[in-house]
Amino acid sequence: EKGNHHHFMAKEIYEQPEVVGHTLTHYVDMANGVARLPFETPFDWKDLSRLSVSACGTAYYAGLTAKYWFEKLARLPVEIDVASEFRYREAPLPANGLALFVSQSGETADTLACLRYARQEGQHIMSVVNVPTSTIARESDVVAPTLAGPEIGVASTKAFTCQLTALAGLAIAAARARGTLTAEQEAAYVQELIALPGLMAQALTLESEIEKLARKLSRARDVLYLGRGTAFPLALEGALKLKEISYIHAEGYPAGELKHGPIALIDEDMPVIVIAPHDALFEKTASNMQEVAARGGRIILITDAKGAAEAGVVPEATIIMPEMDPLFAPIVYAVPIQMIAYQTAVFMGKDVDQPRNLAKSVTVE
Ligand code: M6R
Repeated sequence: EKGNHHHFMAKEIYEQPEVVGHTLTHYVDMANGVARLPFETPFDWKDLSRLSVSACGTAYYAGLTAKYWFEKLARLPVEIDVASEFRYREAPLPANGLALFVSQSGETADTLACLRYARQEGQHIMSVVNVPTSTIARESDVVAPTLAGPEIGVASTKAFTCQLTALAGLAIAAARARGTLTAEQEAAYVQELIALPGLMAQALTLESEIEKLARKLSRARDVLYLGRGTAFPLALEGALKLKEISYIHAEGYPAGELKHGPIALIDEDMPVIVIAPHDALFEKTASNMQEVAARGGRIILITDAKGAAEAGVVPEATIIMPEMDPLFAPIVYAVPIQMIAYQTAVFMGKDVDQPRNLAKSVTVE
C-alpha cells in the first residue's frame, strides 16, 4: 500500500502533485482558464460582511494562509481562530457572515462545535473537507471538497496542500463575484494555480539535499521557523510538523516578531529556518536574517535563486526553490517543509506514521 515508500507519510508527500492537480480540476475551468466552483452558493459573495474561519492544527494553518488570499484578492474581511478558542468565546457574528470550517477528517470535535455555534448565530456555513460523508460535511450548507484521497499518516501533508488549493480557488471565485479582480488578473492567477503540480514535482527533487540538512537538524534541541506574509503560516506548519514526528521542539514566528522576543534564543546551536520566497517582503525578511547572522545564528534559507542572491548572509544551507509567483508559493514551499520534518524524524529512527500520543482525528475535546 505504501508503494515504493517506507512510510505512508512519504507516499503522501509524493502524491501531492497528483492530488493537488485533481483538486484543482474542481475549482478551475482548465479549458477557459477561469475559476469555477463545484457548487452553487446559497449566498452571494458580494453581500458577505465577513468570513469567520475556524479549524485545528494544520487545517488552521491552511485557513490562516487563506486569510491573506481572501483579504487581498476578494477584499473580504476575515477573522480566524483555532476552533477550541472560537467555540467558547461567544464571538458576535455579523448578519450576512460566512463561517468557514477546514478539516481533513470532518470529525474534529472543536471544529464541529464551532460549526454548530455559527449555525445558531445565523451564519452561512461552508466547509473545506476531505471526507465528504463526514459530520462537518453533512452539517454544512456547502462543501468545498479536497480530493486528497485517504490520508493515513498522522502528520497531515497532502490534505494541507489540497486545502490550500481549494481555498485559493475559492478566494479567486469570491474575488470575481465581488468584482475585485479584472478578467486578466483572474486569468493570470488561474494560470498560476495550473502551474502548481509541476512546481511541486520540481520541489520533490530536492529530497537528497534535504536529507543532508536533516542529519544536521536531528542534533538540534530547538528549531525556529520564520516567515512573513503567507510564509508565516507555513513557518507555523513547519514547526508543528517537526514537533509532531521528530519530537524536536520547534516554534514558528512571524519574522517581524524576532526583535520582540525570540531573538534572545539565538545562539550557535539553534537552527533558524527562514522561509522567504523573493516577494515584496523579501528585503524585510532578509534584514531579520542578517540580525540572526550577526548573533552567530545558524540559518537555513528556503528561497528561490533571486532570494539566494540577495540574502546578504551566508546561510549554513540554502534550499533553492523554482521561481514562481509569490501569492500561491506556500502550496509549493510546503513540500520542502514537510520533507525536512520527515527526513529528520526518519534519521532519528522515529515512527513517523504513528507518532507518540497523537491520534489522526481528534473527536473528543
Ligand atoms: O481532521 P482535521 O483536519 O480537522 O484535523 C485537524 C488537526 O487535528 C490536524 O491537522 C493535526 O494538527 C495534524 N496531526 C497535523 O499534522
